[in-house]
This record gives sequence, structure tokens and C-alpha cells, in this order.
Amino acid sequence: METLSLAPFQGITDVVYRNAFQKHFGGIDKFYTPFFTGIQKDNSKSLRGEEISPEFNDVKTVVPQILSNHADEIIRFANQCKSFGYKEFNLNMGCPFPRVANKTRGCGLMADPERTTAMLNEVCMHVDGIDFSIKCRLGYYSDEEIYSFVDTFNTLPISEIILHPRIGKQMYTGEASLEKFQALIPLINKPLVYNGDVFDVEKYNVVSKMSQAVALGRGLLTNPFLAEEIRMAPKNLTEKKARLHNFVVDLYVERLRHAGGSPKIIGSMKELWKYMMNIFDDPLNVWRKVKKVNHLDEYEQAVELIFNEHNVL
Ligand SMILES: Cc1cc2nc3c(=O)[nH]c(=O)nc-3n(C[C@H](O)[C@H](O)[C@H](O)COP(=O)(O)O)c2cc1C
Repeated sequence: METLSLAPFQGITDVVYRNAFQKHFGGIDKFYTPFFTGIQKDNSKSLRGEEISPEFNDVKTVVPQILSNHADEIIRFANQCKSFGYKEFNLNMGCPFPRVANKTRGCGLMADPERTTAMLNEVCMHVDGIDFSIKCRLGYYSDEEIYSFVDTFNTLPISEIILHPRIGKQMYTGEASLEKFQALIPLINKPLVYNGDVFDVEKYNVVSKMSQAVALGRGLLTNPFLAEEIRMAPKNLTEKKARLHNFVVDLYVERLRHAGGSPKIIGSMKELWKYMMNIFDDPLNVWRKVKKVNHLDEYEQAVELIFNEHNVL
């Protein structure tokens, strides 16, 4: 049986999204959190909230992710995750945004193999009792950079590598390269998880021939039924629409509760609608309805209008 996971999305797949998703949809085995940063001390503020607390997260299926270029910070994070009961933590070596990557963080780590390898060695020397996985791209400037890491990935006790086969400089342009992914399979002796551009069951069927494990990203944000559709028979459209409606309302109510009623949550709901609009019959019209809202009552009306006027595909 294949493993399906939800790739992390900063600003979208927070604890509220993950829990609402789990309540309304199936098919996902693992949920990576958006990255944590600033773990300067054991009792760092970002590790005290609901985003990582075992009270609000299923430690067996959630995998906390860190964005860092300091072994000490990563080790501290790993130990905290272990003490919370998590089975795995993940290092972000894929974030392509220049303000991150230019500081040798995220995908920028791939452009400095010497420093990064030393850091990974240090982490592995001091972390045990929790799986350590890495999420990366082919490289930052070039798709050859990953080859400098093959030995390190093979020698160190890294549990799995999630590979998004683009380079950082591409951001999300062009296509994820199935050829480059395939070329790396025989070279890497760790489970290699495919991630990139899986928007439908057809594409999944192509990538699952190469990899038993797939991390779904924008495809799942757009169509939260995707993992179920991969694993089970297609749903009837009326049922899909009703379930999607329940999910959207639930997510909104939970976000609102978390934010103490602040209309700021409209921003994160809009971020999700940028993807979710594409599951409807007229995506641009759906987006126009959501885009212009600034107040909670306007948002609620827009959502009702969308579900009254549009069908899901
Ligand atoms: C808005 C946004 C936020 C993201 N945040 C993270 C993150 O926190 N950590 C991470 O490893 N990847 C992050 N990613 C990358 C996705 O997890 C994923 O690797 C990427 O979208 C490619 O997969 P897809 O083509 O299936 O969407 C983010 C991507 C986007 C567009």
C-alpha cells in the first residue's frame, strides 16, 4: 500500500487546517507541519503553541518541520519533538524564496554542500530516538547540486527524503522533472518520496509507478478529495459538494475561534481559496467572489453564494 502525505504550506496547513482536514476527509497517512523557526531555547515560544502541542496534534501522523541552518537549533527542535511524542521530524531544504535561500537556509542549504553536510553529520551524531527526514529540491541554482548529497543521504541515518524535482531558482515555474527524480532512485538507498504537480489521479498513477510514497501539495489543497480518489472509488458530485461545504464552514469557524473572532483570518481563507477555486466549475468567478471581501459577514455571504451558484467538478 502506498503512503500518501500532505506537504507543508506555510500560512495554510496549520493545525486548524490539518485537524479540519482529518475530520472531513481521508486518505492521508502523514501531515508535515509548515516550518518552525527561531528555536533559540528549549522552551522557545514557537514550541509552546497549539501548532506543535500534542494536545492538538496526533503525534503519530503529524511530522513537525524546521527551517534552520544551525545544527544546535535542529538538535534542540528534534529533542523537543521527541519529548512531545512525535515519531519523526523534518528538515526543510527546499524553501526557494530568496529571503530564505540567500541566507543559506531552506533550498539555499543545497548550494553549500560542505557546510550543509557538516551540519547534517552533527545533527545525526546528537539525535536519536526520533526519525529524521529531509525535504529538498534538486538544488538551488542547478539540478546537479543534489548529487553532492547522495553519499551523505546514503551514509547518515536519515529516514526518508522527500524530493520536489525542481530547482529553487525555478520557484514553481516549469514542470517538476519526473526524469530527474527517476534518475536518482537507484542512487539513493533511503525511501524517496515524490512531491510535485500531482493535481489529479491520472498524474498520481504516473508518479506512483516510480515511488510508493507521494507527498501531495497544491493538488490536495485544490481538491481535498484527491487522496480518497486515489485510494477509493470516485465520489458522487452532490455528496462531494456537501462535504466540501461542511469542511469550508468548519475550517472557518475553527480559525475564527482560534483567532478570537479577528477578521484577519480572511487572509488565510483567501490563500486556500486560491487553490480551492479550481475544484469549482467556474474558478475565476469563484475567486472574484472571495477576493473582494474584507469583512467576516461578506466572507460568509460569498461562501454561501459560491456553494449556491457553482458545482464542484
Ligand atoms: C504558499 C506555499 C507555502 C509553502 N510552505 C512550505 C513549508 O512550510 N515547508 C515546505 O517544506 N514546503 C513548503 N511549500 C512547498 C510545498 O510543500 C510543496 O513542496 C510544493 O508546493 C510542491 O508540491 P506541489 O506541486 O504538489 O504543490 C510551500 C509552497 C507554497 C506554494
